[in-house]
Amino acid sequence: MDLHVRAGPAAGSGDTVVFLHGFPFDGSLWDDQLTALPDGWHGLAPDLRGFGRTPLGAGELPRGSDAPDAVARADEAVLPMDVLAADVARLIQERAGRAVICGLSMGGYVVFALRRQRPDLVRALILMDTRAAADSPEARQNRRRMAGTARSAGAEPIATTMIPSLLAPDTRQDRPDVVDRVREMIRATSPRTLIAAAAGMAARADSTPDLPEIDVPTLVVVGAEDTITPPDEARSMAAAIPNARVEVVEGAGHLASLERPAAANTLIASFLAGL
Ligand code: MLT
Repeated sequence: MDLHVRAGPAAGSGDTVVFLHGFPFDGSLWDDQLTALPDGWHGLAPDLRGFGRTPLGAGELPRGSDAPDAVARADEAVLPMDVLAADVARLIQERAGRAVICGLSMGGYVVFALRRQRPDLVRALILMDTRAAADSPEARQNRRRMAGTARSAGAEPIATTMIPSLLAPDTRQDRPDVVDRVREMIRATSPRTLIAAAAGMAARADSTPDLPEIDVPTLVVVGAEDTITPPDEARSMAAAIPNARVEVVEGAGHLASLERPAAANTLIASFLAGL
């Protein structure tokens, strides 16, 4: 799948950071980062398959099942993290050769899959508001519920339900522009993609056993008020990666780079300077 890609200034020169968005967003999640990378670096932020302006390509994807606990039904597509990672691997090969990969939440799940597939493409990692563990049974149950809502009522009620848990209270109160951007990205996601990605995330592998094998410099970033992937979990993840450090962004929830772009950009710039 050819991904729609947003590119920062000076694309094609210097070293590359590839930014992978979370669910259910698109590459514009990273607009504040693409324009703020330090000299010598440029950013690429694809719309992952099914999100933003990249089509789902449902014909190429596996199907769900009619089992009672399935998230996607037999006539619906499943979007495995491995497929998203293979798309990103092609992008890196074509546009960068090797890159620093920054993944937020679902983007982090894609980072883990990409590192298993093509460690040679990964120069360093930034894991933001994400986790290594697979879904718990309760999380899978929530995904089934969300898929049901997407099927019957589309993205609107999903935006309403998700926003309070995605954004820190201060962001919701003081940054209506951020709330609107998040709502628009969720609304723009098709029910087919919501269902397919929920099923793909529910089926993803546990990446915890991989953590001690990560042999590239790694920055773990988490919003202090992230309730979806909380700081304690980020600290444990960083502790299991040999060459990692963890940074907590005050005043941010699950979307640290969007909620507190200046703080996130400073952390990213200082990490890149050390490579
Ligand atoms: C995300 O932001 O990508 C989601 O919270 C990931 C998930 O639902 O596990």
